[in-house]
Amino acid sequence: MKDYDQLFQSALVEVDSCETSGLLEQTRIKYFGKSGLFTLELKKISSLNPVEKKSLGKKLNDFKNNFFKQIKTKKESLDNNEIEKKISTDFSDPSMPYRSDSILSSKIHPITQTIEEIVSIFGSMGLSYVEGPDIEDDFHNFTALNISQNHPARQMHDTFYLDAKKENKNVLRTHTSPVQIRTLLRGEIPIRIFAPGRTYRCDSDVTHTPMFHQVEGLIVEENINFANLKWFLKQFCKLFFEKDNIKLRFRPSFFPFTEPSAEVDINYKLDQGKIYLGEGDKWMEILGCGMVHPNVFKFCNLENLSLRGFAFGMGIERLAMLKYGMPDLRSFFENDFNWLQHYGFSFLDQPDLNWY
Ligand code: DAH
Repeated sequence: MKDYDQLFQSALVEVDSCETSGLLEQTRIKYFGKSGLFTLELKKISSLNPVEKKSLGKKLNDFKNNFFKQIKTKKESLDNNEIEKKISTDFSDPSMPYRSDSILSSKIHPITQTIEEIVSIFGSMGLSYVEGPDIEDDFHNFTALNISQNHPARQMHDTFYLDAKKENKNVLRTHTSPVQIRTLLRGEIPIRIFAPGRTYRCDSDVTHTPMFHQVEGLIVEENINFANLKWFLKQFCKLFFEKDNIKLRFRPSFFPFTEPSAEVDINYKLDQGKIYLGEGDKWMEILGCGMVHPNVFKFCNLENLSLRGFAFGMGIERLAMLKYGMPDLRSFFENDFNWLQHYGFSFLDQPDLNWY
């Protein structure tokens, strides 16, 4: 009888040293394939005498069982290793949201970015974000704002009328001030709100587009005064323009819904065609504001209370142009891809407040 023990030993060592399932399969074929080493030996058993047959048969069969057990264990471990390797080198998580490369190169429009900055600043100053409809009626857009039927301000606003025949005409809102009325009518005092949004005027030239954006602010409570308004707007401008040394000039002005009213200018200097805000002694208008007119409270059924309020409204395009040095208002709405690539923002440019 051959010395099988040596052969068994080396077959098992060979199984153990296989590094891939392919090599493992080759080893199985080598020993137990159709014309494998042990397959041939097993065939030979039939020609042996009964005693030899019995002992060799048992020996070879025991080895066969052992061999295949070893192959199975080895296969499991190789398969696991292969899966582990795949997971660590080829990572993909099917629960992640789809994100193509284009999202990284797409740009946020400067108006959207500016509104997000305004939202983050007013939010941090304790104001709530509210919205009003783009289509307003005469009452909210004019009458309740103390702009009577024949008031010249109605002409000043170059209104888009939607249905001129109706009694309470609908208009595309000419400013965000009607949101003041909607908020006051709700009567939940104190009021601390701001309302950014689209506004419309039938006007188009170098400095006007028929659609533009404003942000309205309204604070109503007892004991509030013009000094509070001045502090508030200065604080906003410092945060928005990210400059501590900004100067504001409050110029007496007229708005039917505020008394007293003011227009606010910011200081700047021009150097080689570039604007530097918060430096120099030139002035540029950035917003209108004032103390809520008693008639506005009356229209909103709040006349008997000893309430005071301040309000302000500013053009968002103007703020964006000043902050980001954009020379032409009209380019905001021309859908010029190259312009957007240049002036647009990454979606990662989240407003980050530096308090002064
Ligand atoms: N609504 C005015 C406009 O469009 C801007 C404005 C001025 C809003 C004074 C106000 C304010 O709230 O107090 O020109």
